[in-house]
Amino acid sequence: MSAKLHPVPEDAKRRALVDNETYLAWYERSVMDPEGFWREHGQRIDWFTPFTKVKNATFSGDVSIRWFEDGTTNAAYNCIDRHLEKRGDQAAIIFEGDEPDTARTITYRALHEEVCRLANVMKARGVAKGDRVTIYMPMVPEAAYAMLACARIGAVHSVVFGGFSPEALAGRIVDAQSTFVVTADEGVRGGKTIPLKANADKACDIAGRDGVTVETLLTLKRTGGDVAWKEGRDVWYRDETEKVEADCPAEEMSAEDPLFILYTSGSTGKPKGVLHTTGGYMVWTSITHQYVFDYHEGDIYWCAADVGWVTGHSYIVYGPLANGATTVMFEGVPTYPDASRLWQTVDKHQINIVYTAPTAIRALMGAGNEYVSKTSRSSLRVLGSVGEPINPEAWEWYHTVVGEGRCPIVDTWWQTETGGIMITPLPGATDLKPGSATRPFFGVQPQLVDAEGAVLEGEADGNLCITDSWPGQMRTVYGDHDRFIKTYFSAYPGKYFSGDGCRRDTDGYYWITGRVDDVINVSGHRMGTAEVESALVAHEAVSEAAVVGYPHAVKGQGIYCYVTLMGGREWSEDLRKQLVAQVRNEIGGIATPDKIQVAPGLPKTRSGKIMRRILRKIAEDDYGSLGDTSTLADPGVVDDLIANRQNRK
Ligand code: PRX
Repeated sequence: MSAKLHPVPEDAKRRALVDNETYLAWYERSVMDPEGFWREHGQRIDWFTPFTKVKNATFSGDVSIRWFEDGTTNAAYNCIDRHLEKRGDQAAIIFEGDEPDTARTITYRALHEEVCRLANVMKARGVAKGDRVTIYMPMVPEAAYAMLACARIGAVHSVVFGGFSPEALAGRIVDAQSTFVVTADEGVRGGKTIPLKANADKACDIAGRDGVTVETLLTLKRTGGDVAWKEGRDVWYRDETEKVEADCPAEEMSAEDPLFILYTSGSTGKPKGVLHTTGGYMVWTSITHQYVFDYHEGDIYWCAADVGWVTGHSYIVYGPLANGATTVMFEGVPTYPDASRLWQTVDKHQINIVYTAPTAIRALMGAGNEYVSKTSRSSLRVLGSVGEPINPEAWEWYHTVVGEGRCPIVDTWWQTETGGIMITPLPGATDLKPGSATRPFFGVQPQLVDAEGAVLEGEADGNLCITDSWPGQMRTVYGDHDRFIKTYFSAYPGKYFSGDGCRRDTDGYYWITGRVDDVINVSGHRMGTAEVESALVAHEAVSEAAVVGYPHAVKGQGIYCYVTLMGGREWSEDLRKQLVAQVRNEIGGIATPDKIQVAPGLPKTRSGKIMRRILRKIAEDDYGSLGDTSTLADPGVVDDLIANRQNRK
């Protein structure tokens, strides 16, 4: 790992909200006196009833996490209403459409009206406080309106990424028992259309068979493409919003009332509904957004994620809007019409802060420097990275070519579960090392432990835990608190276990090394290998499947599948296509297998456990270091797997 140090540029230091001394002092206070620290910083959002209690959390026993619990507030009020007086005419959202000539600006005043109208539509159609609303939308402002409309009336949103299949959408509708769904006729990305309404129709059918009847499918007309229509259930977004009042009061919510559910993949089983609540989440997203991006009044800020992921929730919608920022929403992809798109968009809107994923950076790096150098980028001040480890080469390119050496890079480590950024540099405070997420944010207490749970001090390599609660932390798995306890607090009792491996260097900097569980990270999208396996074995030709990740130059990790066929079934190109289609149908395009290898046998211990370590090594083409294979029931299967491996260098 490169240890080249990039000191904080003088310019960044001069204008920063937090310098290194302030960081050190605040951090110390945040962990020595969390009550005092958060009592003060909890005031950054508006409360209807001020809180008197700050923190009430235990990671032991039943695990209970409560912040600001006797305060009342509303997330949409904090993102919209409180800004109206001072910045009603300021842009809240700049929408940059898929085609470069389609941009729209939504002021805070317009945002207020849009959100109120949609909230009134929801209410008129029976959505009440605590009800779950599923949002399956393209990256258009209406997706944000839908989230904020839910927040306004106290409904709990569950946003499902538009790339998920009808099956995956249905599973989430059913788990959340959601009877109100918001979608669009079609999405548009990189010049291609995505049949969202058709997918939602199928998902509603599947959900219906599984006992959940969607009563309203509110559909935004995005392209005007042909869609099927079910009278009584399907209604057009704009028809409905025109019928209702342009004002809707913000519901008074307790700090611990749920704000949203977001499904994410784990090592085992179906995706989990990560539940976030209101007060702590708003404090966490707004404070991290301000200090991590060194956000100043008037800055134009762009997080190029999708609202279907937590990054979009926390850093396109809630964090920036709580801070009264101008947030850019981008419908397209970084390579359309060509690899200049991000930087042309920066120039067009004079964007100061860009936050994107290493996979995009690597893809653009591969396209060539001329796509960058022909743009100005003079407005850029801070660059961010999120979602997966950034390799030092990509970091250097981002820093030198995109940022011309003057923009600090914030490599932010966090998770759906953490609600917001946890380990990160601060632009004016932290000397950078390419590939390191550097130091913990205020209130975050990381700890490295070995496999047995022994705490590792100083320079060490281990499993990353967090020892105490922070306001933005998830509160439970929706409908399954036991799973919450088991997943995050049982490996190392009394600690939150992230599932990530991590190294701490002699300067106390943290280097995330990737997942240590059976979760893979493909283009920054998190996926459980078990989900892909269960999709594969659902095919009648497959008797057993094992899926692992392998290094991929652009995606970070690719999906490598080993399948054992049913007796009598022959491998063929047609079968390979069927299996790929099967996974895409069950999960979505993001889970498309990169490699499929037929495995007459899988390496198993005598007790029948698949030894994934060996499968990973073979997928990496690193079969020289398989380690001990003597405990295998049949060591001979390994030779066969090596002889037929798909990933030869
Ligand atoms: O493995 C870590 C990786 O992404 C996982 C969380 O994925 P998800 O919940 O989908 O959230 C992604 C956006 C926050 C983590 O467990 N990860 C995220 N950020 C980084 C990272 N790995 C290394 N460096 C990062 N900056």
